[in-house]
Amino acid sequence: MADLEVIVKKAKNLPALPQITTKLLEVFDDSKSQAKDVGKIIEGDQSLASQILKQVNSPFYGFSGRISSLKHAVVIMGFNAVKNLAMGFSIAKMSRNGTVSVLDMEKFWEHSLGVGVGARSIGKEIEYPCPEELLAAGLLHDIGKIILSDSFPEEYRKVLEEVEGGVEEIYQSENKVFGTSHAEVGEWFARENRFPPVLRACVKNHHAPSNQSLGESVKAVKTIYVADQLCRVEGIGWSDGNRNHEKTEDVCKEIGLTDEAREKVIGNLRSEVDEAKEFFGINKNK
Ligand SMILES: [Fe+2]
Ligand SMILES: [Fe+2]
Repeated sequence: MADLEVIVKKAKNLPALPQITTKLLEVFDDSKSQAKDVGKIIEGDQSLASQILKQVNSPFYGFSGRISSLKHAVVIMGFNAVKNLAMGFSIAKMSRNGTVSVLDMEKFWEHSLGVGVGARSIGKEIEYPCPEELLAAGLLHDIGKIILSDSFPEEYRKVLEEVEGGVEEIYQSENKVFGTSHAEVGEWFARENRFPPVLRACVKNHHAPSNQSLGESVKAVKTIYVADQLCRVEGIGWSDGNRNHEKTEDVCKEIGLTDEAREKVIGNLRSEVDEAKEFFGINKNK
């Protein structure tokens, strides 16, 4: 894929991964890692530690106000949940880089958060084994837009203008201008930084979930697709077109999300996003 290669070679302004993300990725990468390794990383970041404790003491886990140590949190929530929640927080930290962009960053992160919390809610409804994984995937799914827009602001402005005209979806317009899309560039970034395969799959195929054939990531990719659609319809943050070219109803059926459960997710979406914004500290410095 020559175009992607050309683009990434020129892309100088890659989003800086917070140090904590890099450390967490090492733990994700190492199959021998244990709860104590994650605990150590989390303890090194005061705000992350208190956020995790706040989360585990939320009504969802049913231990309101009684968990005071990270060790205990890992026991209650499970190693994977804590690991992925920490990953979600660390990705959200990128929202505080404060760079000037042709993208409306506040709306961008609101959308990413919307997809993350929406996907997590769907995950709970369909009994996805680790809903926190979907939260992290949602936060990361459109990261390629930041890379493209920060590296090629003038060209990206053109893309945005075209999309505002309402004829094309953003990735089609990106393909015309760059010969690649934010999904491919994002996947490259996730691969370079050794994000876990399921997150990479979600970034790569969130516009075309049926392209995802690798067994264990199929459900995650489809869930991100549905959450992306719901956020677009509900006007959560700045959405990127992605106009329902694979029927959302069909994808919902494939992942086992009933109409009733979908309505429940939609009904809670706005308030969950507002809560999560506060929780993740997104847009606090604006
Ligand atoms: Fe996208
Ligand atoms: Fe999106």
